[in-house]
Amino acid sequence: MTVKIAPSILSADIMNLERDVKLAEEAGADVFHIDIMDGHFVPNMSFSPSVVEGMRRVTDKPLDVHMMIDNPDKYIKPIVDAGADTVLVHAESTQHIYRSIDLIKSLGAKAGVVVNPGTPLETVKELFPVIDQILVMTVNPGFGGQKFIPGMIKKIQRLDQLRQTAADDNFQIEVDGGINADTISKCSKAGADIFVAGSYLFGQDDLKGRIDDLRSLAVNAEQ
Ligand code: DX5
Ligand code: ZN
Repeated sequence: MTVKIAPSILSADIMNLERDVKLAEEAGADVFHIDIMDGHFVPNMSFSPSVVEGMRRVTDKPLDVHMMIDNPDKYIKPIVDAGADTVLVHAESTQHIYRSIDLIKSLGAKAGVVVNPGTPLETVKELFPVIDQILVMTVNPGFGGQKFIPGMIKKIQRLDQLRQTAADDNFQIEVDGGINADTISKCSKAGADIFVAGSYLFGQDDLKGRIDDLRSLAVNAEQ
């Protein structure tokens, strides 16, 4: 599968968001990752649908929206209407994840499920034939700049094996949290396709060099 690098705008300079988005686009970003946090599901607050709408005005790149909120169904339509291409909902944030996935797809967007580090893959297995992406959290969600949890490599490997054994399962595997030049190769080798990176990219010199490095490390490590 094609490697995709997805800068997370959580680490961008919020007062210069458009500038940072353009810089990342020119540097080769494939997708933009937008974190929505409510201060309940995770102990932090961040962007809202209005930021998705603003992002849609300044870039044609796909927008992946990572919802870290309770009661996600209430905000799926506003997020799709704002211009999200893919909406990612945490399995732990709702009793009815299948309903959330159905709702996203009925609105014409791509749908993904997110699993926290402590959530077993078995919890979301029934969704495999109907989703476009699975986001494996490689840190506890809520903050940028945290350390990658090494045990998640085995989880990515297991997920890739499950995907390979079922003809109906065509989802992409995304990783988010602590992705940098030290961790990306292992994730790629394990089977990940989409790599979210925040603090490794934004606020650093040579954004293009960093995106190029991440991409070539991921491509070279692909099985
Ligand atoms: C964390 C967010 C991530 C965050 C990643 O909960 O979901 O998208 O921006 O940041 P880094 O790459 O710095 O770990
Ligand atoms: Zn995220």
